[in-house]
Amino acid sequence: MDSCVGPNSFTIPEYALPSSGKRMPLLGLGTAASPPVGSEATKMAILQAIKLGYRHFDTAAKYGSEEPLGAGIAEALSLGLIQSRDELFITTKLWCGDAHGELVVPALKRSLQNLKLEYLDLFLIHWPMSAKPGTYEFPIKEENFLPMDFNSVWAAMEDCQRLGLTKAIGVSNFSCKKLRDIVAIAKIPPAVNQVEMNPLWQQKKLREFCQANGIFLTAYSPLGANGTRWGSNRVLECEVLKEIAEAKGKTVAQISLRWAYDQGVGVIVKSFNGERMKQNLEIFDWSLNEDELNKISEIPQSRGVTGVDYISRYGPFKTVEEIWDGEM
Ligand code: A2P
Repeated sequence: MDSCVGPNSFTIPEYALPSSGKRMPLLGLGTAASPPVGSEATKMAILQAIKLGYRHFDTAAKYGSEEPLGAGIAEALSLGLIQSRDELFITTKLWCGDAHGELVVPALKRSLQNLKLEYLDLFLIHWPMSAKPGTYEFPIKEENFLPMDFNSVWAAMEDCQRLGLTKAIGVSNFSCKKLRDIVAIAKIPPAVNQVEMNPLWQQKKLREFCQANGIFLTAYSPLGANGTRWGSNRVLECEVLKEIAEAKGKTVAQISLRWAYDQGVGVIVKSFNGERMKQNLEIFDWSLNEDELNKISEIPQSRGVTGVDYISRYGPFKTVEEIWDGEM
């Protein structure tokens, strides 16, 4: 792994995606604020993050943060904080209502317009189900869920890469079984699977599967997404992590992020607070010892993001077990 140096000399290691060769900083900033904080506050957070050395940003058509992220990037360029957009790694995601073969390329073009970018670094299928074409409400109405036609949707994702609209393609919230289904039909295999991962949901099985199949795993909600509709304080309040943090003079957030980094995955952490953004970058010049890693590996496991918003009596998944193919 190589590294890049931000203006404040925080060294963020990188991973070169095999499909594109583009280097992905292993720590990126999430932009899904829940409840939403408004465009100006989001743009200012992006600018501050770029000043601190963040170069990897994660958004989604669904988050409402594509436009302020694009505005932040444009301003960072005009202020000379970065010399070129190529210095950044930008990911966005295809929403369920656009997860239909003929809607994928237009959806990506719309995202690029919002971001004011000519190309993306990574385009992900947000969830492994579709919604009625052109429906964008969230939560998705039960009657609007549809099974995803992996063949046509993945073929259109591949078109996005061939057209140069994105450097790489991948998925999010996919189980081992669903990854296997995509790999079986793919001409271009998914470069990344972005899933919940933190010390309370360590994703051991999925990580092994991804590693064996050349798919890079990226962790979202590494801190448990405290304060959001889908998260809780269970990571930040975990006693085992608190004890380790206290003994090391680090914060629980830093212990969780360093642990995720040590597992060989990418990490997307969300903070719009300058101090916490900075703190979250300060995880690369120290390490967890074997005893600490062992203690973390013994923490009882359960999903925080259950996917309950994505089950439906009428849809492809009637229970959360079905979404994850029993990998609970
Ligand atoms: P804030 O944006 O006010 O900093 P995740 O990355 O798991 O999705 O978690 C995001 C949540 O964790 C946000 O509510 C964010 O709040 C909070 N957070 C981010 N970094 C830290 C930190 N270093 N210490 C405590 N809370 C944090």
